[in-house]
Amino acid sequence: MSSSAMHTKARCPVYPGSNIQRFPVPDDKISWSTDWPEYNPVNYTAPSVLKKPAWADSEIGSFSPKFNSLDGSVDRRSHEGNYTVQDGRPLNPKGRTGLNGRGLLGRWGPNHAADPIVTRWKRDGSGQRVSHAVSNLPVLQFVSIKRKDCGEWAIPGGMVDPGELVSLTLQREFSEEALNSLQASPQEREKIRERIAQLFKSPGFQVYKGYVDDPRNTDNSWMETVAVNFHDETGDSVSELPLQAGDDAGQVKWIDVDSSQPLYASHSSFLQTVTKKRNAHW
Ligand code: BGC
Repeated sequence: MSSSAMHTKARCPVYPGSNIQRFPVPDDKISWSTDWPEYNPVNYTAPSVLKKPAWADSEIGSFSPKFNSLDGSVDRRSHEGNYTVQDGRPLNPKGRTGLNGRGLLGRWGPNHAADPIVTRWKRDGSGQRVSHAVSNLPVLQFVSIKRKDCGEWAIPGGMVDPGELVSLTLQREFSEEALNSLQASPQEREKIRERIAQLFKSPGFQVYKGYVDDPRNTDNSWMETVAVNFHDETGDSVSELPLQAGDDAGQVKWIDVDSSQPLYASHSSFLQTVTKKRNAHW
């Protein structure tokens, strides 16, 4: 993918959750190495971030983050390699976004997320794998949540807590989302928790690691993620999670993996990678 194609959501005209306009950045001016004296983006950090919640940094000046390193428990390293710091502020490794500051993001520089992609084979009433009528390939299903911020279906990902191993974030985010949606007795919950722990013990298949083109990104703050696929091949692990497929009221469900299913952020391309790896329908 060309760098401008990778840099679309990060240049959306109006910054999410605000009426702040980004400074329009044409494709040929994305790169920081292209001289552009007229570039004059607004500085914006959302009021909710400036209130200094526990997950957010302070304004630069009131503290000095150690960029490109593990800063106490906060990981300020990028999966993309070392990034440039100019006048005390880190620069987005993919180029200009038309907005200075942090916007809705808590950290200066990389903001790390993790995306657990939990899959099973779609099966019919007698337990046989279902193949797609056109591609003839077996159909995968993945655990999907409806995001509260935008209402789009997504992988149940979330932010890596300071000091937390990504492998733990993957399991924690998945467990929270999946278990919260269940009406199960404490004993049933315990059984499910064990099954999830068992599945996440395997290293999984790393689908993606790096920068994400996200509408919240700014010149100084951006999203990065590690997406990992945990697959229940035999159907006797988390496949039995009683998430209601097809129930519109449900906020968590098994969804067929198919190129026509609209999904949040870069999640569709992550799933496409999973289908290639597992030789499944896309
Ligand atoms: C989401 C992840 C997503 C990341 C980048 C996070 O807020 O929880 O699922 O991959 O943002 O868009």
